[in-house]
This record gives sequence, structure tokens and C-alpha cells, in this order.
Amino acid sequence: MTAPRFRPTALIHGCDYNPEQWRKVPGIWDSDMRLLNAAHLNGVTLGIFSWAELEPAEGVYQFAWMDEIFERLHANGQRVILATPSGAKPNWMAESYPEIRRVGEDGRRRLQGLRHNHCLTSPVYRAKVRQMNTLLAQRYGKHPALLAWHISNEYGGYCYCDLCKAGFRTWLQEKYVSLDALNDAWWSRFWSHTYTAWEQIDRLDGIHGARLDWKRFMTHQCASFIRHEAAPLRANSPDIPTTVNMMAGITWYDYHALGREVDFISWDSYPSWNGQQGENSPHWHLGLWTTFWHDHFRGMKRDEPMLLIETTPSQVNWAGVSPLKRPDVHRTANLLGISRGSEGVCYFQFRSSRGSSEKYHGTVVSHDGRDDTRVFREVRATGELLHALQPIVGSLPRAEVAIIYDYQNIWTLNEMESPVKQALNHTSTCIDHYAPFWHSGVGVDVIEQSADISRYRIVIAPMLQMLLPGTAQRLTAFVENGGILVTTYLTGYVNETDLCFLGGFPGPLRELLGVRIEEIDALPAYRTVPVTATADNRLGLSGTWTARDACELLHAESAEVLATYAGEFYAGMPAVTRKATGRGVAYHLAARLGHDFYNLFTAALLRDAGIALPFGAPLPTGVTAQTRTAADGRRWMFLMNFNETAVTVAGATGAWHDVESSAAMPTTIELPACAARIFSAPATSPRTTTP
Ligand code: GLA
Ligand code: ZN
Repeated sequence: MTAPRFRPTALIHGCDYNPEQWRKVPGIWDSDMRLLNAAHLNGVTLGIFSWAELEPAEGVYQFAWMDEIFERLHANGQRVILATPSGAKPNWMAESYPEIRRVGEDGRRRLQGLRHNHCLTSPVYRAKVRQMNTLLAQRYGKHPALLAWHISNEYGGYCYCDLCKAGFRTWLQEKYVSLDALNDAWWSRFWSHTYTAWEQIDRLDGIHGARLDWKRFMTHQCASFIRHEAAPLRANSPDIPTTVNMMAGITWYDYHALGREVDFISWDSYPSWNGQQGENSPHWHLGLWTTFWHDHFRGMKRDEPMLLIETTPSQVNWAGVSPLKRPDVHRTANLLGISRGSEGVCYFQFRSSRGSSEKYHGTVVSHDGRDDTRVFREVRATGELLHALQPIVGSLPRAEVAIIYDYQNIWTLNEMESPVKQALNHTSTCIDHYAPFWHSGVGVDVIEQSADISRYRIVIAPMLQMLLPGTAQRLTAFVENGGILVTTYLTGYVNETDLCFLGGFPGPLRELLGVRIEEIDALPAYRTVPVTATADNRLGLSGTWTARDACELLHAESAEVLATYAGEFYAGMPAVTRKATGRGVAYHLAARLGHDFYNLFTAALLRDAGIALPFGAPLPTGVTAQTRTAADGRRWMFLMNFNETAVTVAGATGAWHDVESSAAMPTTIELPACAARIFSAPATSPRTTTP
């Protein structure tokens, strides 16, 4: 059986719809049907937290209300993304079956409370979920309104109950077979942590290998839970694709592994628009970071569309300070998602709850119930715009550049106890490397280390401390075949169980990079080290830059030196190196260098790789251009200003037309604060962008 693919025929403009809240309030459902259409919404996500309303007591089911809603939505022209309700379990269940409630690392079982707090191992919970999902799938799985399955909600967190720990031990036994092998892998002889019986594997603190394996096991449990949830859906509605909604910057599980369990990727995006200011965090950083996350989630299934499945129509209620979105921000944020491959935009939630946790969260329809509010108008305008953008459906962002953002590596960095621990900032470092591509309008895929990289021209691997088996070989083959690889300090230090490579870092990459790292200096905030380009270096770099936070002291064994430290007792030692292998080149950046360097360096890499910039040069600070390409070569370029001030952009070459006005792209484009414009180019126009 082939897995169903996510191929919506129209861009989805949807919302979380929780009508069970309003069952006792006459007239609300009628007005919902009118307002959904008035807002130009064409889909809803239903049933995410409906378990208590679907099964009010054990084995007592009431589907009549959902039947009615399904029919009303269908009659109203809405599609339904149906959720499985496992993200929040009913009180009766938590009371009857304490084993389904999570246990904390302190060994104490949690109270029912809140949501997202079930044990992923509990056979009882799995049985209950299987039963509920089977009933949902049998009842609605072939309904013509059904568009997709939304499995649970924002999976996250760990459970340390006896069932989970027993499962962990079994998983370890399968992995290591003998305790001797486990003790070797975890280096547990240090501090007398040697295990002499499997039952002793209980507390995880202090043993990096154990903590790493625990995260792998919890990922394995979550993946198997998703499979378990999906089985009845797949059996009863084999044509409907499944997804789980993911979150940015959350590292409990290896999201790449979870992504493999579903048919398409979706994620929940909540940047604090208009709430981030200051020299070190200008507003446009939110645009940059949000694009990175889009590329990260899309990068899990690079040739498939994804879905921005949750975002707020206005504010969130949980951020402390959540400003109203300034004019154009809603439109531009949504277009950003579309530009990176989302086949639509969905909101949390449609109508404001009257009470409880999220009553002040932004919604399409507020407590006033009106359709003439500013937010409602912005939502409706987005619906109209998405409708006008229909030809874009099925096109995708294409990237010739990838950045490695790998959960297993992030886990080892987070656990790392080292002299440079405080300076890690792994995500923002990845984004520092990503930013010059973003400002150049060059598409990037953000990928895991075991992804196939043969399709790219440039691969950047910031702080790839942990090399999984096969990674060094893949990177080597990539360079041999003409790729450009960039590594940084803290690359190639440990293997897959967090054991340091012996014989010198970067371990199995030593030959490819042509360097041997001897030491790493940690710089406190007040200390920086100048780095100067060497004369006539092959990349054409010239100038002096500033190294901060971390400086590797390394020996160029077979690499050329492009820049050296110009200060400290290690002045003259290599800071930037280059080594050619086969038809490609590997660069190593031994220190954390600033934006000046990354901009110059990236421009040189793009030039060497022959990747053209759509505007011929980088865009003004805070402005990006992102492109989707159809199978027949038609392109749509989204030009977006994430500054809270207006900018002027010099026009691109090529046959670009404004999608909304049909006018040719002007030679100078005025972009008001936070505004976006959309241009398209026919398949036959000269190639001016990356494919
Ligand atoms: C998450 C959840 C939603 C809702 C929103 C609020 O994304 O999935 O149920 O709580 O946050 O921002
Ligand atoms: Zn558990």
C-alpha cells in the first residue's frame, strides 16, 4: 500500500475549531458557519481536545454532535482536518487508570491537570487511544469533507514511570546485548558508574551516553505511539494523509524521526511579531528565524509540501508581552510560510473561548462575535489573497544550499560539560550562517546529518560535534563529487554514543578538512581575537574580523590557510582553512566570526558555486526574497521586508510581474514597514534565480 500524499487542490486557509465548547450556547454553531465563510476560511481542524465530549464515561460514546458539525461544515463548503484527541485525556480515565499519568524525573506521579501529560508507554493508554481512533476513523475516515488526519497535539516531554524505564532497559538490551558493551559505550567505569545488572539503569544524571540513549528511546516511544495512533486511521481511511503538529526549538524528541512516521509535515509558528526590538535583536530577526524554522520543517520532507498548521490571527496569551500585529505583519508572516512551501495557513483558534486557559488568545472571532473587526478583516484579506494565489499550489522551494541542524547532535551539545559550554548558542549560530543566504534570496534546506546531501552545491555544518556512523563518509563523497562543505569549531569531537574520537579532532573528518585540532580557547564576553586574511588567499578574502566565544587552536596538516589569528598567544595559527578534495572543497572555520565575515565568505561561496542571486546582490538588511518553483519552471518570488521601517529595493532582472497588479516589476520597489510583494515569472523567462 502506498502512503497517501498531501496534495491539496487549493491553498488551505484554516483554523482550529473547537465547537464542543459551545454545545450549550444556542446560535453559536449557526453563526460559526456564517463567519467561517465570511472570513474566507476553507478548512477547520476539528476534535483536538474533544475526548471528554466524545467519550464522557468509559465506553459511553457520543458522536452525534460531531456528526452534526461534520455535516454542517461539509454543507458549508469547509474541509476538515480531523484530530485524534490523545493530547488531552479525560478526567475519568486519569482517575480509573493512574498508570496513564506521567511520572516526573523525581519519581512522583503527576496529577491529571493541563494536557500533553500522558505516558507514551502505558498499554492502557495505547488501548484507549486505539479504540477511540478506530471509532473516529470508521465513522469519518471516508467522509468527503475529510482532508487530513492531525494526530494528537504537540507531542512533547518525558515520562519516567516504571513502564517507561522498563521499556528503556529492554530497548538498551536490544541495542547493546551485553552490559559490558553498554558500559563501554557509556564510559561508565568513570566515577564507578559501572552497571552490573540491567535493573541498575534507573537514574540518568551525569552519564552523557545514558541521557543521549534516553532521548533516543523517548523518540522511539513517541514514533511507535504515532504508528500506533495511525494504524486504525490508515486501515480505515487509506487515502487520507496524516500529520503531527511540531514546534520550533523543541528538542525532547528527534523530530526528523517523528517526521518519518507521518505523510506530511506541519508546524505551529508563534513569533512575537512587533515585540522584539533592540540592537541585538532587531525586529527583522523574527523574519529570519521564522524562515529558518520553515526550512527546518520543510527540510524533513524536502520534495513534499508542508503546512503552517497553527499561528495566531493576532496575539498569543502566553508570552507575557504579546503586541498586536502592526499593519501588514499578518499578511507578510503568512506569505512567508507560503513562500517556504506551506500549502496554506491555519490559525489557533476560530472563536475565543469564553473561559479557561486560552480565553485571551488571539482568534478570528473574538468575544464580541463580530465580523467587522480589524483582525477579522485581516484574516478575510488573507483568505482572498490565498485564493488569488491558487496557481502556486504544488510548486515548491528548491534549494542548492543546506544547513545541518541535527537533533542528536543538539542533544550532545546541550549535555556537553566543556570549557565553551556557555558560548554554544547552537541554533543562533546556525542562523548566523543561514542569514547571508536569506539576505541573498537564495533558498536553503535545513536538514539532519543523515539526509542525502548529493543534491546540494553547498552544505554548512555548524558545530557538528557528534558524527553518526556514515556522516563522515557522506560528507567526503559530497566534496569529492564537487560539493562545497563548511564546518566550524566543535566539529567531529564525539561518536554516536558521545565518546571522543581518539587521535585528534575532527576525528574521521581530519583528512577531508586537512586540519588537526589541538585545543579550544573559550573567550569571556570582554575578550575578542582579531582574525586576518592571508595574502592572496584562494577565496579572495581580505580584511580583519573579530573572533568571539570560541577559538580552536589547530594545525593545518594538508589544508591551505585563508586567515589566521592576529592576536593572543596563538597569533599566526590558522583560523580559516580550505582543502580541495576531488572536485570539491572543504572549509573549516576555527572560531566564531561575526556577520561581516559570514557575509563576505558566503558571497564568495555563492560565486564559486555559480549560484545566482535573484537581485544580483544581497538585499537590504532585514529583507528577503524567497522563491517557489513549479514543475514546469514557473516561479513565484515573495519579497518581504521584516523591518518596522520602509525600505527600497532595486528591482531584479528577468520577466517578473506583480501577482496582484499584473504590472511588471519596477526598477525600484518600495516596501513599507513589514510589507510583502509577490512576483511571478513564466517558465520561459531567462533563468535568474536558483532553480
Ligand atoms: C499550541 C497548541 C494550541 C494552543 C496554542 C496557543 O500551539 O497546539 O492548542 O494552545 O499553542 O498558542
Ligand atoms: Zn511512562
